[in-house]
Amino acid sequence: MASKVTVIGTGNFGSTVAFILAMSGSCHEVVLLGRNVNVAKGKALDMSQAANAAREHTVVIAANGPEDMKDSQIVVITAGAPRTPGMSRDDLLTKNAQIVKIYSLEIKKYAPDAVVIVVSNPLDVMTYVAYKYTGFPRERVLGMAGILDAARMAHFIYEKLGYGAGQIRATVMGGHGDTMVPLPKFTTVAGVPIEDLFDSEEIGEIVKKTKNGGAQIVNLLGDGSAYYAPAKSTAVMVDAILKDTKQIHSCAVYLNGEYGYDSIVSGVPAMIGAGGAEEIIEMTLKTLQRTRFKNSVASVQEMIDILNANNFFDDLENEIVEKADGK
Ligand code: 2OP
Repeated sequence: MASKVTVIGTGNFGSTVAFILAMSGSCHEVVLLGRNVNVAKGKALDMSQAANAAREHTVVIAANGPEDMKDSQIVVITAGAPRTPGMSRDDLLTKNAQIVKIYSLEIKKYAPDAVVIVVSNPLDVMTYVAYKYTGFPRERVLGMAGILDAARMAHFIYEKLGYGAGQIRATVMGGHGDTMVPLPKFTTVAGVPIEDLFDSEEIGEIVKKTKNGGAQIVNLLGDGSAYYAPAKSTAVMVDAILKDTKQIHSCAVYLNGEYGYDSIVSGVPAMIGAGGAEEIIEMTLKTLQRTRFKNSVASVQEMIDILNANNFFDDLENEIVEKADGK
């Protein structure tokens, strides 16, 4: 069967995801769905021509509307508003939640069998919104962040060590934000624990830099946020699903009791295959790691509480009642 991936959002992030997929021949077709159809068409043409230059078979096409995501195995949601001057974090939260809600309903309608990868921010809450509004099993709604945060941690380890690039396996759990939980104890360079390579002060610096990794790039760019590493991390997830690799990657998923949490989304290691997050892996955490994970989960819950206080999920309740009434 021809493989098809739809990328929603044609900004830097969405375009770069599509470009990486086109350059690696990951799938037969990439559909670019954006608000401005001409921009999507222009970028799709450019990328399809680049695929020819690379002797790859992937074709990139622009969607005329959401119905063009039909038959996609994967839909990536990158759409979301950037924070503009005068806008509070809560305003951004509600605005992006609204965008993700609309696209989730469209995915449910036009690509009901797809695996959804969410990369809009705040990531964990947006994954929660997508899970609720697609109504898909939790295996098929993933947030991309753990691969990115681990890649950043690996970079900072390399920067300090001066060697080992490409051999660093870092682990980061929890939400994609200030409360993320880098796990030095589960991080190695070619199997060598980083605790044998650095003292605790140096490890503390690496952890701090990892948490600040996204903000550092935002500050340097001055306008917008990172997209190369986020896009590559998303492409890694797409490949794992399309090729059914069954490899372990940290991603944001809806928890059903794992690590002691229910009805919340957070980043945990999961085995990724054709079905999405086919299995969630529970690592044994030490007390401090558990406390940090707890704080991270609490910060996601706080944002969900804000949405609840603004009656954001009320229409979901109506939909459930209507379904129960057979409407
Ligand atoms: C980042 O951390 C944009 O969430 C993305 O760079």
